[in-house]
Amino acid sequence: MYNYKMALTPEEVEILEGRHGEVLGKIMKTIVMYGDTFGASKLVPISSEYGHLVTSFGLSIMKPVYKLMDEIIDAGLLSKQKFTVDPRPLDFENVPSNFLQRTVFKIMYGKQEDYEAQLKKIGLLSDNGFTCTCYLDEVGNTPKMGDILSWAESSAVVYANSVLGARCNRNSGIIEMFGSILGKVPYFGLLTDEGRKANWVIEVRTSHLPEAQILGSAIGMKVMDDVPYIKGLTQHLGNELNKHVKDYLKDMGAATASNGAVGLYHIEDLTPEAKELGTKLIVDNPKIYVIDDKELNRVKESYPIMWKDINAKPKLCFIGCPHLSLEQMIQWTKEIKEALKAYNNHKVLIPTVMTASVSVIEEFKKYPEAKDLLNMGVNISYICPLMYMNNPLCGKMPVMTNSNKLRTYTTARYYTDSEIIEAITKGGSN
Ligand code: F3S
Repeated sequence: MYNYKMALTPEEVEILEGRHGEVLGKIMKTIVMYGDTFGASKLVPISSEYGHLVTSFGLSIMKPVYKLMDEIIDAGLLSKQKFTVDPRPLDFENVPSNFLQRTVFKIMYGKQEDYEAQLKKIGLLSDNGFTCTCYLDEVGNTPKMGDILSWAESSAVVYANSVLGARCNRNSGIIEMFGSILGKVPYFGLLTDEGRKANWVIEVRTSHLPEAQILGSAIGMKVMDDVPYIKGLTQHLGNELNKHVKDYLKDMGAATASNGAVGLYHIEDLTPEAKELGTKLIVDNPKIYVIDDKELNRVKESYPIMWKDINAKPKLCFIGCPHLSLEQMIQWTKEIKEALKAYNNHKVLIPTVMTASVSVIEEFKKYPEAKDLLNMGVNISYICPLMYMNNPLCGKMPVMTNSNKLRTYTTARYYTDSEIIEAITKGGSN
């Protein structure tokens, strides 16, 4: 038997020894080895109502995953909690693609249907449960303060930890599913009080509210996987966690997590733990990073441009990585409408796709803005733009985005929100 280091209860040892079935034994062994690697002292029960899985795509080459899922299903194991999953990779109806691209997608994601059937068997919450913003009200997988989670999607983990005050490590795919099946996770890192202390103080000294995605990028690239305590942001953002502020933090956090590896940030006078504990959350002698207008500009200018021809006319624009909230969809629609009017245009001049969860899209369709958006030629989809981009055919296309996560992992080029509005309503991008 595996020579474990952490403290296990007699029942956990039984599971590890395979006395509750061979497959559950292997799952326990993986989780215990994972915890031992990071110095976990014990396993703790997951307390969130739902789980969330990062692996949402049926890539044909992921054969070991499908075999593993079959083993779990054959052993009669179910996830102890129902779960949501990251966005689906394909939407031929709403995302432009040519014949060749569609053929490649069909081959690449040839296992999508089979994989979704496997997910259903082990505990998928619903057919609409495919989104990275599972924590939004419309989706309903919203952890409570102090909840222990087994999630892996980096943008959701950093949101749950920072904005909701839940506790979750930056797990990997599959490991998070094993945690949900066991109902337990190793106790280390961001699950502990000590691991949630900030070793960086970020001093925001900008003249106005920074672009969320650039501020997050600057912080992520500087602190990497450390915990930052952000001062000075509330003078621009206010100190009430309302929907607008939560959306800002959603986008900022996703950039900290993808341009660095941040799993938790605190914002003075705003996020729940910072409100409760204040500067007690900061370790002695923290590192300091000052962010002013010049620094934000430096960070933005440092992004490499991966387009073959940097003067190319964009072929596609993605807005909504992480997925948009209902309020953001309404706001974008209003702003695009106003800008089109100002430039005397009626439809967007660059094919544009806004992405959100199915639940948010369904809600949005009840608003007059949904018709406006359609009339302006903007498409709405539930996909993950990253999965659309990650193949040689789409990788060659000049795609623009306001997402720093999409920029980091693909050849898409980053533009601020206002640059995007101008480009799609007036034309041009440079
Ligand atoms: Fe979400 Fe996909 Fe972006 S999972 S954060 S839309 S890369």
